Formats: sequence, C-alpha cells, structure tokens
Amino acid sequence: MRLLVTGGAGFIGSNFVHQTVRERPDVEVTVIDALTYAGDRTSLAPVADRVTLVEGDITDGELVDRLVGESDLVVHFAAESHNDNSLSNPWPFVQTNLIGTYTLLEAVRKHGVRYHHISTDEVYGDLELDDPAKFTAETPYNPSSPYSSTKAGSDLLVRAWARSFGIQATISNCSNNYGPYQHIEKFIPRQITNLVDGVKPRLYGKGENVRDWIHVEDHNSAVWAIIDQGRSGETYLIGADGEKNNLEVVQTLLEIFGFDKDDFDHVKDRPGHDMRYAIDSSKLRTELGWEPRYTDFRSGLEATVEWYKANEAWWRPAKAATEAKYAAAGH
Ligand code: NAD
Ligand code: DAU
Repeated sequence: MRLLVTGGAGFIGSNFVHQTVRERPDVEVTVIDALTYAGDRTSLAPVADRVTLVEGDITDGELVDRLVGESDLVVHFAAESHNDNSLSNPWPFVQTNLIGTYTLLEAVRKHGVRYHHISTDEVYGDLELDDPAKFTAETPYNPSSPYSSTKAGSDLLVRAWARSFGIQATISNCSNNYGPYQHIEKFIPRQITNLVDGVKPRLYGKGENVRDWIHVEDHNSAVWAIIDQGRSGETYLIGADGEKNNLEVVQTLLEIFGFDKDDFDHVKDRPGHDMRYAIDSSKLRTELGWEPRYTDFRSGLEATVEWYKANEAWWRPAKAATEAKYAAAGH
C-alpha cells in the first residue's frame, strides 16, 4: 500500500509514521510537510531510510495532485494546530486548515483515493465542569477559536465531499495528545522544558480547565483501526477517559521532578478559553474493538518527561523563541 501522510514531520504525524514503519512493513510511506516552525525533519530521522519526505505545502495544487495520484491512501494530519497562535494571527489557520484541506479533497476526488481526516474534539466547543455529558459524533459543532473553527470547517468540507462527490472518507476527532516529539509551545512539553530549566510551570487562569488526555500512540492505533475497519462517511471520536484539570497535570509534573507541588505561577488566561473537553469513545470501542494501551496517565507522563530529558537537542533550539512569544502575550 502507498500511503501519503500530510504533516508527517509534526507531533502526531511523526509518531504515526514511526508506528506505521514499525508495525506495517508492507506500507510505503511518503510524507508531505511544509516544515513550518512546528515541523522538524529530525522527528523522522529514526525512520528516514523507510520514508520519502517531500518538503511542500498542502495548498500547492499541482504538487498535491501528483502525490495523491501516486497514493492508495491519504492520512491528513497537516494543520496549524495551536490555539494561542490562532488568536494572535488567524490567517495561516484559514490557509492551511481550510484551503489545504480543500486542495487535498479535490485531488482525492479526482484520483479516487481513500482519505482519512484527522480532527479535534474542539470542533464541539466546550462543556461545563459539572456537566455529566461527553462529546459524541452527534454533538453539534460549536467551535470557539480561529483554530477550532477552521478545523470544524475542514471537517464539514470532508462531509460534503463524501456526500456530494462520493469520496471514500472517514473522520476522527481526538482529544488532547501527549508524548514524544510534541512542540514545546504546547502545555505539557512547555512545563516539562521549563522545569528542566528550573523555571516554574505557568498555569493559565485558575488552572481549572479540563482536558481529556490520551497518549499519542493510542491516538494513532485508533486511526489505524478506523482505516482498517471504519465505515466510509463515518465520524469516530477518539479518547481514553483521561480527564484532568490543568492544575492536576502541573502538580503531577512537579511531583515527578521532585519539586514542591505548589511551586508554579498563575499567568494571564487565554481569551475564550474552553473550559472542559470530554470524549465518549464508545462507538470506536464497540464497533471497531479499539482499546487504549496507556491507561495510567502518570506513567505515560513519566516516560514523556524522560523523553524530553533525553532529547534536549531536539527541543532546545526552539525554547528561547517560544518563551519570548509567550512573554509578549502575557502568558
Ligand atoms: P503540529 O503542529 O505538531 O504539526 C503540524 C504539522 O503540519 C507540522 O509538521 C507542520 O510543518 C505541518 N504543516 C503545517 N502547515 C502545513 C502546510 N500548509 N502544508 C504542509 N504541511 C504543513 O500538530 P499536531 O499536534 O501533530 O496535530 C496534527 C493534527 O492532529 C492536526 O490536524 C490537529 O488539528 C489534530 N489534533 C491534534 C491534537 C493534539 O492534541 N495535538 C488533538 C486532536 C487532533
Ligand atoms: O483537544 C484537542 C486539542 O488539544 C488539539 O486540537 C490542539 O491542536 C492542541 O493544541 C490541544 O489544544 P489545547 O488548547 O487544549 O492545548 P494546549 O496545549 O495549548 O493547552 C492545554 C491546556 O493548558 C489549555 O487549557 C491551556 C492550558 N495552558 C497552556 C499553556 C501553553 C496553560 O495553563 N499554560 C500554558 O503554558
């Protein structure tokens, strides 16, 4: 099988490529990635001899048409993915998440290639802290930020291309991922790399916002389950029952580092900050038999801390600029 992975030099995409190379020797992998600030070719270094990396933009219609035409399956991870960036400059989000997805869909339609679309639980908006409800595939879309609204728009394009043009497509909406190769602008790696530097973790607002954490390997095993057995036109929600508030996450990290659990700073909150995400993944579990392997958050986090400690050369070059960006925004 010839597989085209978009955004394969980013966090989840590179982990997906590693897992695919490890577990599916019959799959030929090509990655298209624009290598933005969030993409890093060294994230693919351990599998470089098994993967073709094309440096290119998913809004480049000619390139996308050629690469899709040479593939049997497209898995679309490429996106502008960080909420805070979308609040300071929404345009690249419109460009990549909407125009980029449109460009891929047109190529997929032309060449009749199977397509899997990677999306986020943020398309559903947020839940109250005391709400017993969780997101399901029937929850109405209600995105809050430029990031989540452009992801929502891209999901709707996929649904329309499936219904109107009959493309073979599935969509997955996953909760917050953690694990190796995540950019240090994101919550968990930002705090880990701060702690390595002896800097206190930074909590937005009161730290009461809840995220439903899943290890990136579990996200990617679910994606393969959907590709293998999912029904075309369907949406599957991916989650591992990992709800934690941000304060709990920071205190677990402080404990892992052996520091006082109150040794963190509160900083300015994110405008429009979603309060809580929670995924009901029963459709994925009952229909496709998928189960997460990383069910103990603390040990997953410990392994992630070890990875960042052992791979300082991977993240160090971005640290000063990332913190300067946060300082300018008051975070
Ligand atoms: P990331 O920011 O780490 O990686 C994105 C990758 O896409 C980078 O390698 C970047 O260079 C590439 N890219 C960006 N614009 C591009 C363009 N125009 N053309 C080609 N490549 C481009 O993101 P991530 O956290 O790995 O997220 C991957 C996907 O998963 C996204 O679609 C995101 O919405 C979704 N998602 C992420 C999470 C999460 O917790 N991180 C959860 C659910 C869903
Ligand atoms: O839910 C899935 C989404 O999860 C993905 O679609 C996004 O691509 C991904 O970035 C993530 O979005 P969040 O906005 O939830 O993730 P982030 O890592 O930016 O923040 C997680 C929580 O931590 C959020 O409540 C904000 C808070 N936070 C973040 C940073 C960077 C802090 O308290 N301090 C920080 O320094």
